[in-house]
Amino acid sequence: MKVAVIGTGYVGLVQAACLADLNNEVVAIDNDSKKIKKLKQGIMPIYEAGLEDLVTRNVTEGRLKFQTEINQINGSEAIFICVGTPPEPNGKPNLDYVENVAKQIGDNLKHYAVIVEKSTVPVRTADWMKLILRNKLASSDFDIAVNPEFLREGTAVKDFYNPDRIVIGTDSEKAVGILTKLYKPLNSQFLHTDMESAELIKHGSNAFLAMKISYANLISRLCEKTGADIQTVMKGIGLDKRIGEDFFKAGIGYGGFCFPKDLGAFVSVLEEYDIDASLLKSVAKINEDQVQYFAGKIVEKLGNPEKYYSLEGKKIAILGLAFKPGTDDMRLAPSIPLIEQLKSYNASISAYDPKAIENAKKIDSLKDIYFAKDSYDAIKNSNAVVIATEWPEFSKLDLSKIKEHTNYIFDGRNIFSPERMKALKFNYYSIGRKPA
Ligand code: UDX
Repeated sequence: MKVAVIGTGYVGLVQAACLADLNNEVVAIDNDSKKIKKLKQGIMPIYEAGLEDLVTRNVTEGRLKFQTEINQINGSEAIFICVGTPPEPNGKPNLDYVENVAKQIGDNLKHYAVIVEKSTVPVRTADWMKLILRNKLASSDFDIAVNPEFLREGTAVKDFYNPDRIVIGTDSEKAVGILTKLYKPLNSQFLHTDMESAELIKHGSNAFLAMKISYANLISRLCEKTGADIQTVMKGIGLDKRIGEDFFKAGIGYGGFCFPKDLGAFVSVLEEYDIDASLLKSVAKINEDQVQYFAGKIVEKLGNPEKYYSLEGKKIAILGLAFKPGTDDMRLAPSIPLIEQLKSYNASISAYDPKAIENAKKIDSLKDIYFAKDSYDAIKNSNAVVIATEWPEFSKLDLSKIKEHTNYIFDGRNIFSPERMKALKFNYYSIGRKPA
């Protein structure tokens, strides 16, 4: 099948490469000519496991090409809109990119196609898109479908091939037929819904996952005050099949461009319909507070009580910057407010991350920290080591080398065991567990 994908970001590029790999003829279109030029040279704009090989192979074998002009959609049966919906200051998603692309499709489409809304958008956006397109196209010339993505950064390619479900929100049987045929090789469960329900499934899924994380983080604070163990408690809760164990890992909170953005968008939608959104606002507040709570532990243990707990003269090594392991993405990473808080107490910061340093260097509030070449370089002469992202290599650190510099470890992702750290005589603090 001939397919067009508009937008070559985290979602669009994965969608285009994987659909090409399912033996479709895919044109990936982006108005960022620099990005398209680099993609044509085989240079990826993002780091995703397996993506570079997928793109290179499908370009070489002629199934995937990159263009900048919207008129390149012609010939495609399905046209995926995968452009960004960045949050406004009040959390409401900015739909300008979606609107512009819908108008350009209306101006350029010369034949019937299914126009697929893949970007995460507020409920009723597809309805609105339909109006935009009806101004330019006959109703028989297009159908709209909502097909939300459930890709996690770092495992986006794997998640594409192993979806828990494929949601197709549309009132057109023709559109269902085309999209079912396109995704058939994935042997996944299909859920055919109306457009509004498909849009709500996406926002609802992300908000629920974020809620699970904040729920675990809320309980972790009670564990610390009562001597319970967060990992034991969340395992016990998660063994209830109705609840499930995933997304119950307590830590310094969730980041990334999806959970915070989608939660904020969902709150703005609820409030737009005069529905009390305090449940989801609490999820966001717990997440923001969790970083401050963790930073407070470091200040309390290392700060100078005679000088308002100043960290003047203290060097703190931050291991992990990306919002999660397996990605170079720094967007809304908890490491950012954590470092900002420690800097506000005059600590000096060294930091290391296996993938995200180049992106971290672009962040204003991180510009004056020392970016180390590896973990041990970061740890050199430090007064404390802080784990902010659970990259696998950090669990394998030679702890005797850390001991040469400091015996303070603040583990924001619970990668070490308190018992082991106690035996090694570290002053070890983590989340929701007894200090060593
Ligand atoms: C998320 C959703 O998982 C995905 O379905 C959606 O399409 C996009 O948003 P993503 O943000 O890429 O994916 O990563 P995810 O693995 O969900 O982690 C998000 C954040 O939650 C990370 O900062 C991670 O560290 C944190 N997290 C995750 C926890 O703190 N605890 C957990 O148990 C799981």
